[in-house]
Amino acid sequence: MTHQPNVLRGLDLRAEIDRLRKDRNAVILAHYYQKPEIQDIADFVGDSLDLSRKAQATDADVIAFCGVRFMAETAKILSPQKIVVLPDMDAGCSLEDSCPPDQFAAFRSAHPDHIALTYINCSAAVKALSDVIVTSSSAETILAKLPADQKIIFGPDKNLGGYLARKTGRDMLLWPGVCIVHEAFSETELLKLQLLHPGAPIAAHPECPAVILDHADYVGSTRGILEFAQSFPGDTLIVATEPHIIHQMERVLPNKHFIGAPGADGNCNCNICPYMALNTMEKLYAALRDLEPRIEIEEGLRLKAKKSLDAMLSMASATIGQGDLGPARVTGD
Ligand code: 13P
Ligand code: SF4
Repeated sequence: MTHQPNVLRGLDLRAEIDRLRKDRNAVILAHYYQKPEIQDIADFVGDSLDLSRKAQATDADVIAFCGVRFMAETAKILSPQKIVVLPDMDAGCSLEDSCPPDQFAAFRSAHPDHIALTYINCSAAVKALSDVIVTSSSAETILAKLPADQKIIFGPDKNLGGYLARKTGRDMLLWPGVCIVHEAFSETELLKLQLLHPGAPIAAHPECPAVILDHADYVGSTRGILEFAQSFPGDTLIVATEPHIIHQMERVLPNKHFIGAPGADGNCNCNICPYMALNTMEKLYAALRDLEPRIEIEEGLRLKAKKSLDAMLSMASATIGQGDLGPARVTGD
């Protein structure tokens, strides 16, 4: 159910959020796909792996998670003693929806000699059924640590799984889920855009289908794409991922030009994640004020899900600190 904040007319939301953050001893964590005003007020902005690490390491009493539900659940699994609020509890994910736990359990049972390497974009119940969780920035590092003859199920993103299989030569059984946002990019429109910007490289997230990734000069996580934006030699970059990430690029590189890759009609908003967009400043304010909506996870389930997340955090250690753009700003400290 969507949490309905009170009418907030007349309130200085930034100042109120700042006041509540201090009163509550709260930390505001935000994903790069959040609205610019949320990224700007967050204590830390990051990709899925870095946000998990921050959630685990923080000594705040409250985590206000500006992202989607599986991310806030991850924070709660790793930091059960903290209050974790998500401004809008309806902020789900099409990848999570594509992988119901009962069907995933049946898939696992049908392949008892395979381990389940699972993308973090899934429910706590699917994490509990998995052996190792990966994010897009840690998947290759973790895959390289698994024996070459180890049979692997990869879910729920068939595009990320397919990309990893092509890149590493590993044969993996793929769960057929997709991200509706990254599926919506159009190859035809992308090529038309490249003609308008000759020489402009394309940076793409591995949740994109192969037909888009085949044109990319760089493929990587949101953090990886930000690193590429800092190092590519030209002045224009085409960005094939959720366009709110461009806010961080423009903040750090105001003299460069960043263009979001187009969707099917060349001019749609279909690449804005509708789930991420549910979080607003008003709802963030209300979440800090009311300490609701709160993530709660049954303890038995939490402990099972934590095992596969712990495996990720220890196996992904090699990806620490690779060119992070750093916190987007912190007000008041
Ligand atoms: P990363 O930030 O880990 O690249 O993941 C992107 C994503 O799918 C968020 O939903
Ligand atoms: Fe899920 Fe895609 Fe939105 Fe990320 S961008 S939260 S993968 S629907």
